Amino acid sequence: MDSTSLPAPPSLAPYSIAIIGAGSVGSNIASFLLLRRIAPTLLLIDTDHSLCRAQVLDLTDAAFLSNAHVRTATHAEAGQADIIIVTAGAKQRPGDTRLDLIGRNMKILRSVMDSMKPIKKDAVVLMVANPVDVLTVFAQSLSGLPKGQVLGSGTLLDSVRLRALVAEKAGVADTAVQVDVVGEHGDSQIVAWSSAHVGSTPLSYVLPLTEEEQASLAATARDKAYDIIKAKGFTSFGVAAVVSCVCQAILGDEKVVIPISHWIDELGCCLCVPAVVGREGVVRTVWPGLSDREKEGVEASAKALVEVVENCEK
Ligand code: LAC
Repeated sequence: MDSTSLPAPPSLAPYSIAIIGAGSVGSNIASFLLLRRIAPTLLLIDTDHSLCRAQVLDLTDAAFLSNAHVRTATHAEAGQADIIIVTAGAKQRPGDTRLDLIGRNMKILRSVMDSMKPIKKDAVVLMVANPVDVLTVFAQSLSGLPKGQVLGSGTLLDSVRLRALVAEKAGVADTAVQVDVVGEHGDSQIVAWSSAHVGSTPLSYVLPLTEEEQASLAATARDKAYDIIKAKGFTSFGVAAVVSCVCQAILGDEKVVIPISHWIDELGCCLCVPAVVGREGVVRTVWPGLSDREKEGVEASAKALVEVVENCEK
């Protein structure tokens, strides 16, 4: 079970979480953190000061639920937080892939990182802006922090989406399904079906799926963001919920194993693979059992992302 299925912890020690970007994603992350009582001090930062002030004013009306302290802050103050969540960036328009955002969001990331320095030595940076795997690579080099302290929300959200689909088909609770989406948080992601379980039973014993059924479930989870963006212009609640779980795992030093974007030496990039997550960020990678075809899918996803990073560095 990972932290997506655990009850919220009691209020933690006086930690602070900074959220860069007060738009739909950043403000929803703030509200989820408040409602789940995950961090007593929340700093909201945005270059649109009037939007940022309005979001904080609105959030303070909900802060009584967790006696949290919410305020606007500068980038320099954000750099001293325990967790720094970066949502700032252009969002996908209908038809955009996440990789289409790289040019605009690289510039924003560079400016955010430069204006936060010097960053607190034991801070954990959690990238949310897309393309999250590529931006996590750049956030690692720009921040100067140890790679394990800079991670990206990535396919934890895709895994939550897929688990819900499989759970409905199998007639069990979402939390009973363990299946990971790995690779890019994007179009080249793949599902580690060969290590999927319901409780402690292999999925194939509980819900035998044909290859076509697996492909259909994987595509529905992979493309869900496009469906939501087409209808309402952005996604926010799902990503806010999973980011709140990652923050809980970090601040609670939970050592949960969740698919998260992090540096993987043997692939030469950041990619979403299950990893142990605790106070210092990513502790270590925990590779799921992968079939040869799934391994090829991960390598193809990594290759595509390495090419994007190399093109950005030209
Ligand atoms: C989504 C965004 C967070 O998948 O990429 O909803």
